[in-house]
Amino acid sequence: MPDHVMNLTVNGRKVKRPLGENYRLLDFLREELHLTGAKEGCGAGECGTCSVFVDGKLVKSCLMPTLKADGATIETVEGLAPLDSLTEVQRAFHKTGASQCGYCIPGMVMAATAALRENPEADFEEIKERLGGNICRCTGYAKIFEAVEIARDVIAGRLPQTALEPDAAAESFIGASVRRIDAPSKVTGRLKYAGDMIMPDMLHMQVLRSPHAHARIVSIDTSEAEALEGVACVITAADVPGEDGFGVFVHDQPIMARGKVRHVGEAVAAVSAESVEIARRALGLIKVEYEELPAVFDPEEAMRPGAPVIHDYAPDNLVKHIPIRKGDVEAGFAEADLIVENTYSTQQIEHAYLEPEAGLAYVDPDGVVTIHSPSQNITHHRHMLAKIINRPINKVRFIMSPVGGGFGGKEDMIYQGMLALAAMKSGRPVRLVFTREESIIASAKRHPARITYRMGLKSDGRITAVSFRMISDGGAYGMSTEGVMRKAAILAFGPYEVPNLKVDTYGIYTNNTPSGAFRSFGAMQTQFATESHLDLCAEKLGLDPFEIRRRNMMKIGSTTHTGQMLETCSMEEVLRVAEEFCRWERGAPTSRGATRSDLGGPDTRKPCTLGARFKMPEAEESKQEVA
Ligand code: FES
Repeated sequence: MPDHVMNLTVNGRKVKRPLGENYRLLDFLREELHLTGAKEGCGAGECGTCSVFVDGKLVKSCLMPTLKADGATIETVEGLAPLDSLTEVQRAFHKTGASQCGYCIPGMVMAATAALRENPEADFEEIKERLGGNICRCTGYAKIFEAVEIARDVIAGRLPQTALEPDAAAESFIGASVRRIDAPSKVTGRLKYAGDMIMPDMLHMQVLRSPHAHARIVSIDTSEAEALEGVACVITAADVPGEDGFGVFVHDQPIMARGKVRHVGEAVAAVSAESVEIARRALGLIKVEYEELPAVFDPEEAMRPGAPVIHDYAPDNLVKHIPIRKGDVEAGFAEADLIVENTYSTQQIEHAYLEPEAGLAYVDPDGVVTIHSPSQNITHHRHMLAKIINRPINKVRFIMSPVGGGFGGKEDMIYQGMLALAAMKSGRPVRLVFTREESIIASAKRHPARITYRMGLKSDGRITAVSFRMISDGGAYGMSTEGVMRKAAILAFGPYEVPNLKVDTYGIYTNNTPSGAFRSFGAMQTQFATESHLDLCAEKLGLDPFEIRRRNMMKIGSTTHTGQMLETCSMEEVLRVAEEFCRWERGAPTSRGATRSDLGGPDTRKPCTLGARFKMPEAEESKQEVA
């Protein structure tokens, strides 16, 4: 019903607009009225970032057809308080620091406001329940719930307004808790993320993605798509004027598939059009002929002779092998009383930042190709892009937009090149915002790993030798794999000193979604294996899990397996505190940071149950059993 005219009251203002192609209330608010405080996190009613009030009721605007809101009174986060002032809820979020990346925060503020409007005396449990439809990926919920409780008490007069003021300035910023300077723009929804940015004459990009894991591209015909009214340009690998390759270590990834596709979801072509709807229609008119190739999805299979080759330059599918050797491993195993071997697996993990990938590119009046995007590595991106588009470095500019959660997942340059090419080809600004599905299918993930541990120990728990072999699935492109393999090898044995050690980490190409940077950068996989294996060895030796760690931990003066002598080391203290908390000596910590005994609760002191809680798999064992 494109000719229908909508009549609404939005933030106290009468609005009369054609419905246009904005079928969801969220699109109408964002694209027609430019009220971008309501954000799209999932597009499926799960995350709550798009929450607004419709006739006083909290709704998820991504689920509401615009027509259904005709005649309604809408209130968005921008309408909660006049410019330059904040509601008690917003001030409380500022006070407690409940706005890290901030992408979820406008939705959280709306849900908190709804909770206190509906029940001004809502207790902690009810607040938790009422905010249950909103997801935060980085602040965590403790500060958010604390903010709502403070706002509730200030509104009810139980706390003075000064409870929302900043704490008195400390003498030094070091060690002091400081307020986030960007919190007001986050709690009011006024901060502009890349997907919120709008420029005059702006085009909208949509991307055609591969349905195949491994296939040769026989031909691409974009003529029908280009002829569709409203389409400004279609780009493919043929439009790249320079050296078409990017990546953090090895530049093996083209801007769009060149000659063949290597994973499902790889970009093949991109359309820029007057609207997202037209661009989507045009994607359906692009004809791609593929010739499917054998694919490989398991890194150990990809290492075998005869496995499908994913990149011609790497016939063995090896992205990177990092070996580290220390001492004499065979001699170390020979002097052991017990040898324990086991294999540990970790899975692929999605970053799931609330802000999906987005960017806006244009060529400025001085001919500088300019890209706004939440890139976590803009200097590197800039240098790579200059080569790809064959422009001098001073004609390429990257501007880092606010990052609505990254966790390492926005270090790789997977879409900025397409935006730059389209802006150059069309001569107009171009914006791309991934759907949640695209974000999941096309962005890098945490490396899945399979780690085989072999450890030799004396009967008193001292380690004599370790052999550590990690096979990681790097996916279709190198991205950060080399760095992750280096870090995994360096951190392979954690904070423990081993006299004889053999470490091998391998990053392997497969036809899976590429793996890339993710918080901890290889440490998570290795530490999971190391700490699990130590528990297993402690169980075999009848030792306390803390004791086996104490006997092997690094101290000041220890030398790491990469030859670094430690001048400081807090491992002993870390272990002491971890032990104290594991044994629940002060009572189990609650979700709000206090302990039960602090709150006058029952004594929950228990012996350490570390070994019992993690039931270890059966491991291979050799040499004599230890009494
Ligand atoms: Fe909640 Fe980042 S602050 S998702």
